[in-house]
Amino acid sequence: MRIRTVKLTLDKHVKQDPRILKVYFEARRRYSEAGREHHNFTHVMRDLYRSLVIAREESSVDYGILIPAVLLHDIGFCTQKHIKVGHDVAGAELAMQILPPLGYASPTIQAISHCIRAHKGLAELPQSLEAKILYDADVLEKAGLVFLFFAGRITVEFKETVEHFLKRDIPHREKEISRGFYTQKAREMDGGRLAILRSMLQRIQKEIKEERIDYSVTEKDLWLEPPESHSTSIP
Ligand SMILES: [Fe+2]
Ligand SMILES: [Fe+2]
Repeated sequence: MRIRTVKLTLDKHVKQDPRILKVYFEARRRYSEAGREHHNFTHVMRDLYRSLVIAREESSVDYGILIPAVLLHDIGFCTQKHIKVGHDVAGAELAMQILPPLGYASPTIQAISHCIRAHKGLAELPQSLEAKILYDADVLEKAGLVFLFFAGRITVEFKETVEHFLKRDIPHREKEISRGFYTQKAREMDGGRLAILRSMLQRIQKEIKEERIDYSVTEKDLWLEPPESHSTSIP
């Protein structure tokens, strides 16, 4: 699908439900203030594009639920609460505070909140069509070698080592591959790339662990005694 077609699709739904635009601006402001390296509004735009592409192949999609859910799906990273409960749960809670002043009422808020809670397939599994589309769109972010570049940004964002990232991330990819995609369009877009990416991550992990331990070297590996114990006065 060409990008212009998606742009028109989004315009059409905003005209039908102007509240979507309010969520859009609110989400954009919050992600911008958080200033995260990867989980930011640019990532959200990629997920929104993928969601709209997938949704076009499905019938009876409620765009009044899907679009706000995509816009807010990583909003949990904009609150410190995500450290304790996870960004999916924290985001769903935050969405329940953000949405009422923007004109949303309970059934829609619950439906959007479910999509956000289920977008990782951890706190709960996607039940509604909109939640399944968001889940697939977000997993597709990892289904390509480009994700290796994003992984670099994620290690910076989370202030973690490459080893820690791989230890944390590979099991997620395993789960996503065994669970599979919910929609036919997402399966088509993936085209086996998620499995290739998983293999690449495993290969990097093996390389660091067994073949190229030099990538794990830190300052302490180069000294018998801490450098501080050595005299700095030069005779
Ligand atoms: Fe997320
Ligand atoms: Fe995301």
